[in-house]
Formats: sequence, C-alpha cells, structure tokens
Amino acid sequence: MLSSEEDISQSSSSSLSPPSSSTPPLSTHFIGRKEDIVKAGRVTKLVNGCRDVLVLHHDGQLYAMDMRCYHAGGALEHGDIEEFNGRLCIVCPWHKYKITLAEGEGLYQAVDNPTVKPLRTYWRSKGVKQRIHKVTEVNGDVYVTLNDLSEAIESDNYQTEKYRSVFLKGHTQHGK
Ligand code: FES
Repeated sequence: MLSSEEDISQSSSSSLSPPSSSTPPLSTHFIGRKEDIVKAGRVTKLVNGCRDVLVLHHDGQLYAMDMRCYHAGGALEHGDIEEFNGRLCIVCPWHKYKITLAEGEGLYQAVDNPTVKPLRTYWRSKGVKQRIHKVTEVNGDVYVTLNDLSEAIESDNYQTEKYRSVFLKGHTQHGK
C-alpha cells in the first residue's frame, strides 16, 4: 500500500543524512508519475532487473505486488478488483483466484457444514501467497521498494529468469 511522504520523512530522520521530503529512500525504484498511474489504473514494470511488479491505483490508494499470480502465473494486471468479506482483492483473470491487495493473501470460500441446506459459505485465508511490495510517493513520483522478506512466497515461482524467458517466448510465438 502507499506510504505517505510523512513516512519517508520519519524514516529519514533516524539516519545520519538530513531529512528531506524530496528524496526517496535509496532502495526504492522509480515507477512513474502518480498522475500517469492514476490515469492508466495499472502499470507493470521490471524492477531492479529482477522482479515484474504490478502497481495499481484503486479508490485513491496505490498498491504493488508481483505481477504474475501465485497459482499458475496469470497476468494480474488484467484482473478485476472486488471486495470479499470487506477485503479488497484482485481477481486473477485465469482461474479467478482472489488475492488481497494489501497483504497478498489468497482467499477461498469455505463451507463449515456441507449437510446444511442452503449451504453457508465463508471467506477464509490461505495465508500470504502473493508478494506485496511497498509503494511510496514523493512529490508526485511513485516508487516501489521490493519486499525482501527471505521467506519464500508462492508468487516467487513466476519471477525466475527461466519462467520469464519461457513466458515471453510463448507470447512472442503466439504473436501477443
Ligand atoms: S493463474 Fe491465477 S488463478 Fe490460476
């Protein structure tokens, strides 16, 4: 989710360099101008030469996550945004998996008692499946800080060079 300029100032104030609201932290990567992202709604970018990231704008908020769905590499930039049990999700266009925008959790519909008719279903979490990255805005410029949590997250499977080359090759062959 988006961090405000105040967040940047606060984190800068604890370092040795003087705080500045016009300088992003060093580990961030420029994505684009906020006005362009808001206009486009979704932007994808290869960040730091190693990560395909989707940055999207919804309801005044910016979010960033791995671009390919944890399930089978679906193109999340084409997914709809819907709310499930009060949680905003991107719905993968390939097999309709739901992924929360803020945490990257996979949601599924559970049935507690299959003998009770009509069936009552509940939205439950499978845990974090999609790697979420931090978005920061400085003076109208939008940056992403990659989530470097060392623990593997399922969407990592579609961020390898091998997958990228196979995926891109497939798209080229099919004229996409
Ligand atoms: S690839 Fe996203 S739901 Fe299957």
